[in-house]
Amino acid sequence: MSRAISLRSVSKTYGRSPRAVDRFSLSVAPGEFVVLLGPSGCGKSTVLRMIAGLEEITEGELLLDGEPANDLTPRERGMAMVFQNFALYPNMTNRANIGFPLKLENSRRDHTERVESTARMLGIESVLDRYPRQLSGGERQRVAMGRAISRRPSAFLMDEPLSNLDAKLRNHLRAEIAQLTTELGVTTVYVTHDQAEAMSLGDRVAVMRGGVLQQVSSPREVYALPENVFVAAFIGTPRINLLQAVVHAPLEGRMSIDLGRQRLALPEPLSPDHQLLRIQQGRPVIVGLRSEAVRIAPPSHARPGEVALSGIVEHVEYQGHEALVHLNTGSRPAVVPDLESARPRTPQRRRAGGGGTGVLERLRQRATGSVAVLDPPAPERYAVRGPDRPAVTASDLVVRTGPDLRLRTGGQVPLLVDLAHLYVFDHSGRRICPLPRDIPGLDV
Ligand SMILES: Nc1ncnc2c1ncn2[C@@H]1O[C@H](COP(=O)(O)OP(=O)(O)O)[C@@H](O)[C@H]1O
Ligand SMILES: [Mg+2]
Repeated sequence: MSRAISLRSVSKTYGRSPRAVDRFSLSVAPGEFVVLLGPSGCGKSTVLRMIAGLEEITEGELLLDGEPANDLTPRERGMAMVFQNFALYPNMTNRANIGFPLKLENSRRDHTERVESTARMLGIESVLDRYPRQLSGGERQRVAMGRAISRRPSAFLMDEPLSNLDAKLRNHLRAEIAQLTTELGVTTVYVTHDQAEAMSLGDRVAVMRGGVLQQVSSPREVYALPENVFVAAFIGTPRINLLQAVVHAPLEGRMSIDLGRQRLALPEPLSPDHQLLRIQQGRPVIVGLRSEAVRIAPPSHARPGEVALSGIVEHVEYQGHEALVHLNTGSRPAVVPDLESARPRTPQRRRAGGGGTGVLERLRQRATGSVAVLDPPAPERYAVRGPDRPAVTASDLVVRTGPDLRLRTGGQVPLLVDLAHLYVFDHSGRRICPLPRDIPGLDV
């Protein structure tokens, strides 16, 4: 039997620290797979442990199948947990490890059948009579999964179960977990800091930051319609380009978005979401452009809805099937605090004497508040001496291209921005556009 799990304005306080989890509300339907995603320390494990009953709920209510459950013991909740560190009993065989929860439940019954069918599901029948130390990391994690599912729990709670494994194995087991939970139809709450893992596994993804839930939506929707700049920046690789900008909405003449050295002119008549920008006149906003929203092509190739910019090539990251072109467009990148520890930005090549990393690091450390708008960079950062010897130290825009385009570092390239994929966030970080109806394929 699969459970409905509902958290209503749940908070957790450890001692005198600020709330580790702050008024967190989430309802998980029976059989649903929900991923808690966020940077390290944002409270994911704490939420999971409160659902499991391993951590007391300071405030708020937990309901299981609609019944208050704050005071149930972990055993009474009938859930199974899988952790990052496999936590197998080293002096028991794998068979005994998988059968252990069954034995706790009923020590007289013979559980051979159940243990073996569980092992078959996980492809580990052949190692049942060995000890955990005789297994590879992946096999050990399968045994841990087996121990969790042997009892056919009412819910799975998984806390970064794959993060100790190497990338290849992680992808493999990720697919297996998806298949297994679908087959068993068991409600699953899965914690990870890896956005790619969250996107590929979850029916819904719940994004957290600093103990606070930011958004719960389908993977498609968190990508296409992030409610705020933090979610936009946390989801997607390479990370969305975030630029500081100012809206210009003159009473007469065309509306445009000032990106520093260049402007994005908005085509007339204004689309409904661009009309929403009018009230931002003169105010700082943050423009978000995913790498697929910009292409390298001359203005003469513009399709309807595309507007021209230009950039100077900083460096090209060749990736085989595609290339990521790091450009400088003379704008100022917007920095979102809390992100940097979670996921390194696409690595940038350091330039001798530029000191780029140190400066960025210092600026980041200074960044406070929900969205930090940085001081203008020193003018020489964007001073271009000539096509062959640019003095730029940081790119502000990463664009995806085919792998065969030959680009010269320091050269100027024309860009076309697809305005249908233009994100604008207000000074507090909330998304202004696009509007939901502008995203095809989303039934919101
Ligand atoms: N047992 C504890 N005592 C005190 N503080 C804790 C304890 N467990 C977690 N915290 C704090 O609560 C916050 C959330 O932690 P956690 O839920 O482990 O985050 P995550 O799993 O997202 O990395 C962190 O600031 C962490 O330091
Ligand atoms: Mg954790």
